[in-house]
Amino acid sequence: MSETTLVLIKPGGVARNLIGEITRRIELRGLKVTGMKLMNAPRSTVEEHYAEHRERPFFGDVVDYLCSGPIVAMAISGENATKAIRMMMGATNPVEAEPGTVRGDMALTIEDNLVHSSSDPEAAARELGLWFPEGTV
Ligand code: CDP
Ligand code: MG
Repeated sequence: MSETTLVLIKPGGVARNLIGEITRRIELRGLKVTGMKLMNAPRSTVEEHYAEHRERPFFGDVVDYLCSGPIVAMAISGENATKAIRMMMGATNPVEAEPGTVRGDMALTIEDNLVHSSSDPEAAARELGLWFPEGTV
């Protein structure tokens, strides 16, 4: 079933000029970019985005990281988009991510793992509401 999911290219990915490479892979897969914006993320939005991790020891660091430079927020649509994107991005810790995934090919540390992708369709709906309150195309 066609669905829409959220991808964030984190500040490290934007700083390393990987917007094109990451988007290229998504488009090659046959998924559609249905929302895209380059922005300095408001801290309150990032805190809400990672609300499930509020009590975790890395929460402050990951919020600081997402606010450390511009990010790209993308809405991605297609068949099983959430699962497909999640597999393409690879394991959270890049040293455990398979080669061929974004994290497995382009990242090395969990603190700078380049991308966020929604974990399931319910998370995707919540996150899209947060990053694209105006809706997608
Ligand atoms: O991003 P993903 O859904 O794969 O992982 P998560 O478990 O939801 O964690 C969110 C983000 O927090 C990760 O992508 C990392 O940037 C960061 N994190 C971290 O810095 N150290 C950890 N031990 C776990 C997560
Ligand atoms: Mg997550």
